[in-house]
Amino acid sequence: MLFRQYDLGPTVDESYDLQGRRMIESHNAMGWTAFTPGERDFAHGLDYLLEMRDLAEFPFVSANIVEAETGDLLFEPYIVTKVAGFRVGIIGVMGDGVEFSQSRRDELGVDLLDPMESIKSVLRELDDTADFIILLAHTGLDDAEIIAEHIDGIDLIIAGHLPRGNYYQPMKVNHTLITQGFDQGKYLVRLDVNIQSPKRPYDLFVTGSGGMGSIEYQNLKLKLEQLDVVEKDFLAKKAEGEDVDYGLELVKLEREKVEKMIAEMEAVSEMDNPNFVTPTLIPLSDEIFDDEEVLEIGNKYMDRLITIKEELTPDTPDDGGNGADEDTGTDDDGTSSIWDPDANPTYVGVKKCIACHKTIYSFWLTTRHSRAYATLEEENRQYEPDCIGCHTTGYKKTGGFTDITKAEKYLNVQCEVCHGPGSLHVLNTDSEMKNHYAEKDCLVCHDGENDDDFDYQRDLAIIRCPEQD
Ligand code: HEC
Ligand code: HEC
Ligand code: HEC
Ligand code: HEC
Repeated sequence: MLFRQYDLGPTVDESYDLQGRRMIESHNAMGWTAFTPGERDFAHGLDYLLEMRDLAEFPFVSANIVEAETGDLLFEPYIVTKVAGFRVGIIGVMGDGVEFSQSRRDELGVDLLDPMESIKSVLRELDDTADFIILLAHTGLDDAEIIAEHIDGIDLIIAGHLPRGNYYQPMKVNHTLITQGFDQGKYLVRLDVNIQSPKRPYDLFVTGSGGMGSIEYQNLKLKLEQLDVVEKDFLAKKAEGEDVDYGLELVKLEREKVEKMIAEMEAVSEMDNPNFVTPTLIPLSDEIFDDEEVLEIGNKYMDRLITIKEELTPDTPDDGGNGADEDTGTDDDGTSSIWDPDANPTYVGVKKCIACHKTIYSFWLTTRHSRAYATLEEENRQYEPDCIGCHTTGYKKTGGFTDITKAEKYLNVQCEVCHGPGSLHVLNTDSEMKNHYAEKDCLVCHDGENDDDFDYQRDLAIIRCPEQD
């Protein structure tokens, strides 16, 4: 929840701190019931996470994260909360298959108890105190399935960690339903649970996943109609003396198969099942209005982030760092003036390329890559650590930059993103630049999260530099 990074070091950077606090405060406002930490929540160390836990108005639950030294649980293993007269037990667990190596744990002073054993012991405690049990499994979907295969007594697992697609349609493993939504808060998964029989296991039936209401059922019905048409065709041909017995036989076999499947589905009609779950996937698109209070919290932190960064920033040129007002590649900040063919090249910025590549530079100015940082500015996100990488050049790369307040010449997606760092080439053009491309070079940024309809050939044609002038 707090960060996208695994390890930000123990010294808390104020911009990340603002991000962490914004997360907690906005989730306070949203009224969360419980949260289970994952490995990335430790990015700023244990003390920071505990501080966030104290700031949160909802409990952090985990049945297997312990302090290494004492072996004591760091969070409540579970909570029990009342919902519509039901006592709902919510357990948290972190899987041991997530990126949380022993050396990382040692560094943080935490350890993980065996997830299976931890869940089992909590379930024994919950047996008499909860009517419905939910496991928040920061394990990934595969491990969640293993848990459901081996442990009985959990009604619903809400899995997280690796985004293995959208599994909002719960799958059933033994008596347990498992669900997982997309990452990054892009969707809300809503499960309406309807329980009439008082006895566990409820064996919750997922509406729409089988039975007469399902698409599969409709398709089978349709198939039956199609088979009728085909059969009629064959019979007509037979009447004209054609030999179609083989075809008729196939139709007969297919019809038997389909009829059998239909009969099976009708037998498990949801009407017969008193306990069922109706899943709904709600995309959090522009059509869902922002909550005023949460918006306010976001804006408050953004304003603060901008203030602290601007106190540190020297005057920014009006062109947003594109060098439009400079036509020579002669100034040499950041570049060694002595050419050393063995040196590792560093990023020098687009201004250095203009003198010799005017046409291409002019072309680049027409692409959205040259406006990528302005896009962040328009959204007031220009200092947000999570956004900078793909909207600038050389961020956190060898020979690139790390501090956005000193990164004027690296703003936007410049030449060196695609052609590599150019310090050697600008001093001696015998030193070649990268000039071959593959889709993976683009996918670093044009990934499924940020550009889900990226099409390499089509998009390459849009940004491909013109022939050398
Ligand atoms: C001093 C003039 C000069 C500057 C400055 C310069 N280039 Fe070049 N560049 C050239 C010349 C000349 C060639 C053609 C070399 C050849 O064909 O052998 C070239 C070729 C290239 C190529 C084609 C691949 C290759 O190496 O042949 C790329 C890509 C390139 N430059 C990118 C850049 C980028 C990016 C910058 C700014 C960081 C830059 N250049 C700055 C003169 C320059
Ligand atoms: C460092 C990250 C990065 C890399 C690498 C990158 N892009 Fe982009 N690209 C962006 C960003 C960010 C934008 C959006 C700019 C904006 O509008 O603010 C963008 C925009 C685009 C657009 C314009 C989108 C549109 O539909 O108008 C195209 C086309 C594109 N990129 C193609 C490519 C191709 C092809 C490659 C690989 C050769 C590539 N990009 C590599 C970050 C990157
Ligand atoms: C992994 C790379 C990556 C990261 C990280 C990233 N972006 Fe982008 N962003 C892109 C690419 C690629 C595009 C171009 C998408 C397209 O062509 O549709 C883009 C486009 C945009 C656009 C243009 C609007 C649109 O969708 O057409 C906005 C606004 C934007 N990004 C904001 C952000 C913000 C805010 C963050 C931080 C929360 C961020 N980006 C982080 C790669 C990234
Ligand atoms: C998003 C990636 C991307 C960016 C940004 C980019 N280029 Fe290119 N560039 C390419 C691709 C792809 C080609 C290859 C075109 C081809 O082979 O048809 C290319 C080709 C070139 C060439 C060789 C042209 C020739 O005659 O063969 C030069 C020189 C060059 N780019 C310079 C630059 C400069 C200078 C900038 C910045 C102003 C820049 N590029 C920005 C992707 C990029």
